Amino acid sequence: MILVTGGAGFIGSNFILDWLAQSDEKIVNLDKLTYAGNLQNLSSLTGNPRHIFVHGDIGDIELVSRLLAQYQPRAIINFAAESHVDRSIHGPEDFIQTNILGTFRLLEATRAYWNALETAAKQNFRFLHVSTDEVYGSLIQNEPAFTEEHRYEPNSPYSASKASSDHLVRAYHHTYGLPVLTTNCSNNYGPFQFPEKLIPLMIVNALTGKSLPVYGDGLQVRDWLYVTDHCSAIRRVLAVGDPGETYNIGGWNEKPNIEIVQTICDLLKELYPDSMFHHLITYVKDRPGHDRRYAINATKIERELNWKPAETFETGIRKTIHWYLENRQWIADVQTGAYREWLEKNYAESQSSQ
Ligand code: NAD
Ligand code: DAU
Repeated sequence: MILVTGGAGFIGSNFILDWLAQSDEKIVNLDKLTYAGNLQNLSSLTGNPRHIFVHGDIGDIELVSRLLAQYQPRAIINFAAESHVDRSIHGPEDFIQTNILGTFRLLEATRAYWNALETAAKQNFRFLHVSTDEVYGSLIQNEPAFTEEHRYEPNSPYSASKASSDHLVRAYHHTYGLPVLTTNCSNNYGPFQFPEKLIPLMIVNALTGKSLPVYGDGLQVRDWLYVTDHCSAIRRVLAVGDPGETYNIGGWNEKPNIEIVQTICDLLKELYPDSMFHHLITYVKDRPGHDRRYAINATKIERELNWKPAETFETGIRKTIHWYLENRQWIADVQTGAYREWLEKNYAESQSSQ
């Protein structure tokens, strides 16, 4: 039995689906179901006794302690977080609550549970914290990619809150001996990603003839990894990673944002030759404090844990576009009133740079 937090979100739900397809081990999935949590992602598991969903907050120590006592998991994988940089700029409070305080309380409940385990279970237990490359800050052109030794220089409320959580996780290992693992991954894309993030937003907008808002000059660089490759890396780290270690995860796929948007338009044009997409690209006002470039050096996980991504960007982006085309109802269902309010707030007319 393992406990997954945030398993109704984008990466967490992909992780659960992959895990249950490859292992007999049960999962308890603790998720608060914020705007980003969506049980439809897990609808194929309805009636599956190996997936136990619990609606709740990682910051609720009483609830987490009860779940740990009841299910006795051998590992916890912490995906739960507020994850969107733009939302952290508009309102940082939720990021502090969940990413910092929530992780702290989850660690406290875990420490008490772990301390009471008998020797073998205590040795085998793992707390795997899922984090981001954004904690390392921004790179300039041609600067070497982030290694695990890169200093922490978070620039947004989101990345600062994730950096804080990473430090807490590290401290629980050094101070209390809790067997923790931390992963710092680059930008993910793939099925079930909420269409507030770059790739799904562009696909969903293009399909409905809406403008494709590119921040600033569109030359910011991100390092893209297909979500199931992130999931396979997490499984690998959980299985053979060294407690106390951190592992960078990435696919050596650096691309400027404008190239991503153009690729999506090119692929849609291939599928719908009679439609026009490129003219929808619109440059808008830049994100405040926008990090220029992220790049992950994944040598450590490749060499020490023998992990490699299965997808290239070219295969992954095609799969992603097909998934959104085949799941129009999922798109319609997440585009609720609250989603439209967010778009209006973030992409207000005044933001246009033209
Ligand atoms: P997401 O926003 O899609 O999902 C987050 C999930 O956490 C949602 O289901 C939400 O309901 C749940 N949640 C939020 N607050 C909670 C709380 N207090 N208690 C319990 N559940 C709560 O995020 P994602 O993109 O799937 O990211 C998952 C994790 O991976 C995050 O920790 C994020 O920082 C990290 N990460 C994401 C990326 C990426 O590109 N998306 C890359 C690297 C790391
Ligand atoms: O690097 C890992 C991180 O990647 C994760 O930790 C975060 O949870 C995840 O949200 C993501 O952060 P980014 O800020 O890089 O992702 P986002 O999809 O929001 O933006 C990607 C790039 O595209 C970024 O440079 C901003 C730009 N962008 C984004 C949106 C939503 C646009 O130009 N236009 C847009 O409308």
